[in-house]
Amino acid sequence: MQQHTHAEDPHGHVPVMRERMAELLAPAVERFGGNAVLIDGTLGAGGHTEYFLTTFPDARVIGIDRDPMALEQASQRLAPFGDRFAGVQTRFDNVCEAVDSGEGDIFDTAREHGVTGALFDLGVSSMQLDQEDRGFAYRGDAPLDMRMDPTQGITAAEVLNTYSHGELARILKTYGDERFAGKIASAVVRERETEPFDRAARLVELLYDTIPAATRRTGGHPAKRTFQALRIEVNRELEAVENVVPAIASLLGVGGRAVFMSYQSLEDKIVKSAFAELTASKTPQGLPMELPGAEPSFQLITRGAEKASEAEIARNSRAAPVRVRGIEKLRDIKDLNS
Ligand SMILES: C[S@@+](CC[C@H](N)C(=O)[O-])C[C@H]1O[C@@H](n2cnc3c(N)ncnc32)[C@H](O)[C@@H]1O
Repeated sequence: MQQHTHAEDPHGHVPVMRERMAELLAPAVERFGGNAVLIDGTLGAGGHTEYFLTTFPDARVIGIDRDPMALEQASQRLAPFGDRFAGVQTRFDNVCEAVDSGEGDIFDTAREHGVTGALFDLGVSSMQLDQEDRGFAYRGDAPLDMRMDPTQGITAAEVLNTYSHGELARILKTYGDERFAGKIASAVVRERETEPFDRAARLVELLYDTIPAATRRTGGHPAKRTFQALRIEVNRELEAVENVVPAIASLLGVGGRAVFMSYQSLEDKIVKSAFAELTASKTPQGLPMELPGAEPSFQLITRGAEKASEAEIARNSRAAPVRVRGIEKLRDIKDLNS
């Protein structure tokens, strides 16, 4: 987890690659004109959305966040935009239901014309990291919660106290890329016999004791990878990303664009392979020409994965790991058979 500066934004969050995100969505916004409805699937502090509403005076935004506190704060920030903004508290892979059941002009337009553009700025927000009692940060001694929506699912403490050694080791290895996953899992299973885990400091102490000091010089803070792995497991983050790509692909209108910002390689891999499938031709390999109707319905709008500039990374360290990929819908999936 990266620390960051608040100097540039009174809301404590500097939206990553803000101008580039607007640039990627701009052709779709122009095409839809007065019917432009963008979905911000990860509203957070509302920084990207505020910029879109300012930059695209004709566009409206539906903002989704599973974190009720984030949604409330962002809604206050965006109140000056009136009914050009509507917020929905849900997981972003429920985006189809959110658009289907939403009430008001903004949702009617999205249903009638299709969605113009969507942004998914994945992961945890600076705001969540800063709210110590949420348990995302490894500095301090917060309760081991880590749920983005504190009303749903199990906490990080429950993961530590109930998962088997094998499950814990797999999570730490896969989601945290932790070299000492097996050793840490053994220590957790041993320690929880004495007393269940409930706060961060005891886990951090265990990690200091378990990870060899010699590897700390290169591996960053010893708790960084374990906290990331627990957060991904608690919030089922990868499952949500897998589900949302086909969902948003179906909601986009023709000419609509969707952009994903990933901060760790597993997320980026999921987006990359889902995009590869959407942009592939359905003509069987080996045929000399494209079969009518088998052309891909989507095209990539980014070449490989785009990164933040050196200058942005120098200003905002959170931008360092970001990988950006986008697609555009070329025709309606139902046109395939016409
Ligand atoms: C990196 S922040 C977004 C920051 C935002 N772009 C801004 O400019 O302020 C990610 C936000 O997405 C939310 N989030 C992450 N995964 C989600 C999911 N599966 N469904 C809904 N919201 C999610 C988090 O609660 C967090 O508030």
